[in-house]
Amino acid sequence: MKALFAILALASTMAMAEDARQLAVLPVPAQEVLRQDMRDNLVALNEILSLMATGKLKEAGEVAESKLGQSAMGKHRSKPFEARPGPNMPPAMHSIGMDGHRAASEFAAAAQAGDRDKALALLPNLTAACVACHFSYRIR
Ligand code: HEC
Repeated sequence: MKALFAILALASTMAMAEDARQLAVLPVPAQEVLRQDMRDNLVALNEILSLMATGKLKEAGEVAESKLGQSAMGKHRSKPFEARPGPNMPPAMHSIGMDGHRAASEFAAAAQAGDRDKALALLPNLTAACVACHFSYRIR
C-alpha cells in the first residue's frame, strides 16, 4: 500500500514536471467565462449525484439536461466572440465538449423516463468528457 502511494506521488510529480497537455490559447474574456462555467459544471454534477443517490431520477435528469446537456449549448451565443469559450477552442477540444453535452442528454433522457438501470449505466459518461478534456488541454 505504501509503495502504491509512493508510485502515485511520483507519477503525479512527473506529470506536473512535464505537462504534456496541449495549450489552447483562449482570449482572456473567454477564459473567464469558461472557468465560471466549469465551476457551475461541478456544482451540477454534485447535484445530479445527490439526486441519484436519493432516487430522484426525474430531477436528476432535469438538472443534467438543463445544466450539462444539449440544452446548455450555445448559451453564450449573444456574447462578443472573444467571450465565447466554445468557438475559440481548437476544433478537437470543442468536439470533446459537445460529446459531453450529448452524453449528458442521453443520461437525462433515461433518468427522466425513470429508467434507473439505464440511467446508472450512463452515469459515468457524465464525467468522461470532463476527464478527457482536462487530460488533453490546458488554457495556461
Ligand atoms: C472541452 C474541454 C473541457 C470539458 C469538456 C470540461 N472542462 Fe473543466 N476545464 C477545462 C479547462 C481548459 C479548464 C481550465 C484549466 C486551466 O486553468 O488551465 C477547466 C477547468 C475546470 C475547473 C476549475 C475552474 C476554475 O475555477 O479554475 C473545474 C472545477 C472544472 N473544469 C470542472 C469540469 C467538470 C465537472 C466537467 C464535466 C462536467 C468539465 N470541467 C468539463 C476544459 C474542460
